[in-house]
Amino acid sequence: MRIPIIAGNWKMHKTAAESVEFVESIKDQVKGTDVEVVICAPYTLIHSVKEAIQGTNIKLAAQNMHWEDQGAYTGEVSPIMLKELGVEYCIIGHSERRQYFNETDETVNKKVLAALKHNIKPIVCVGETLEQRENGETDALVKAQVVKAFAGVPAERVAEIVIAYEPIWAIGTGKTATAEQANEVIYNIREVIRDLYGEEIYTEIRIQYGGSVKPSNIEEIMNQEDIDGALVGGASLKPDDFVGLVNF
Ligand code: G3P
Repeated sequence: MRIPIIAGNWKMHKTAAESVEFVESIKDQVKGTDVEVVICAPYTLIHSVKEAIQGTNIKLAAQNMHWEDQGAYTGEVSPIMLKELGVEYCIIGHSERRQYFNETDETVNKKVLAALKHNIKPIVCVGETLEQRENGETDALVKAQVVKAFAGVPAERVAEIVIAYEPIWAIGTGKTATAEQANEVIYNIREVIRDLYGEEIYTEIRIQYGGSVKPSNIEEIMNQEDIDGALVGGASLKPDDFVGLVNF
């Protein structure tokens, strides 16, 4: 049985005070849920969120990391630093990092291996552009992203990884993929994992959908057989919306 996981990706939003206020306003409303609740905070808020979620069922994720343990990488943050702050998950390979900050399949793979080395669970993002979808390239592209992201990952660690399928054309646009479209791609992703690792892990790995998920559409998405959760941007920023997502 895969435990559903709802993660709010705050991206570049909130002050420390706002982050604490957010957690205080939702913690009692999400404590009875049977889904895994994750807040993906900017680096500057990791400490304040970690403090605020103490004693709650809310978990903490970073939105990126470097793959080296330490070094002359101005502005970067290592997995050791994140682990010390109590980070349990880390988004890796978000399309915005691929688009704006030169993230590649190769750096994604390095970060996945580094996260696992330090017992941080990767949330690996894959997804196509509208042009790639219209050209019928979605399955091949997403398969290649998954295969490259998982290079060198031993079978016994795979189930710790969450994959997030985020069609780029649905991120921040209000254009959500239909539940069927999302499930079709996610089923294909699951097939890739079966090809790589076999039947058992194929059933264990969790795969989220991300891209304009809102309280009004999450139930239909979560009712899909192969979808195990959501990675949510805009609708995760307001307490009431996030509670609506978690308690779908
Ligand atoms: O990582 C989740 C994010 O990319 C989706 O954003 O605003 O479409 O929910 P949004």
